[in-house]
Amino acid sequence: MYKYHCLNPISNVGLEYFPGKYENSESLEDSDVVLVRSANMHEMQLPKNVVAVARAGAGVNNIPLEDYAKEGVVVFNTPGANANGVKEMVIAGMLLASRDIVGGIEWLEKQEATDDIAKLAEKKKKQFAGCEISGKKLGIIGLGAIGVKVANAAVHLGMDVYGYDPFISVDAAWNLSRSIHHINDLNVIYKECDYITIHVPLLDSTKKMIGADEIAQMKDGVVLLNFARDLLVDEEALAEALKAGKVKKYVTDFANPLVASTPNTLVTPHLGASTEESEDNCAVMAVKELMDFVENGNIKHS
Ligand code: MLT
Repeated sequence: MYKYHCLNPISNVGLEYFPGKYENSESLEDSDVVLVRSANMHEMQLPKNVVAVARAGAGVNNIPLEDYAKEGVVVFNTPGANANGVKEMVIAGMLLASRDIVGGIEWLEKQEATDDIAKLAEKKKKQFAGCEISGKKLGIIGLGAIGVKVANAAVHLGMDVYGYDPFISVDAAWNLSRSIHHINDLNVIYKECDYITIHVPLLDSTKKMIGADEIAQMKDGVVLLNFARDLLVDEEALAEALKAGKVKKYVTDFANPLVASTPNTLVTPHLGASTEESEDNCAVMAVKELMDFVENGNIKHS
């Protein structure tokens, strides 16, 4: 009997893929394989008996990869499994940055529900006017599973899309709409685009990749979106740019005190992949990877 332990609640749809010879163990100490979503594994000791860890998600920055490699613990992730959920959040983020939907709803919620409310709303609506994303230039940094989906959706919404990725996979290139400008100079994105969205993993080489110099090159009034990882952006430089109006809006899925106290930010609590479908897809993929490893020794997405 193999024992698995879930460090975060993992979708039952996925866990049901484990056949009868697998048992859900209440304790980490007693498990052979581990499933994790966002728990910080840098802060915990992995028991010696654990042979593999599967992250139900794409990013693996919550896992001490080097330490585990030394101990022979295999780490899996689930690239692409939540890409659709994140894509929809990014599109929503662009729309929320462009139309004051939140402001309009919040204002209406504060009004008394009298017969005059429609008249009052008509008078007030000018204050919530926005702009359309159709016809605007979108720059996508990173054309992995999520970047490609965002690119294709944005083309369908009438945007002029520029994509940059020096390491694009054959799969991703194949799936990328032919209407996208696939460029090899990041500066084109900084200089030309009205909206810029980041879709790269957090590595030493990508940490703070958007800093004061990069922001200085961007168009005045650019909207920056970050549904990848907070440390990709130098948020102190960004806060200055937001205060100065250089960056019109920062839409991010990562809360921290600096971002929360800076004007013109739209912050969500890491909800990109929080859909039923994405959670199920990630869990199913993670469970299949673990089973294929313990039963057949196969290593995929490691
Ligand atoms: C990811 O890396 O894919 C996301 O952070 C997944 C999540 O929300 O847990």
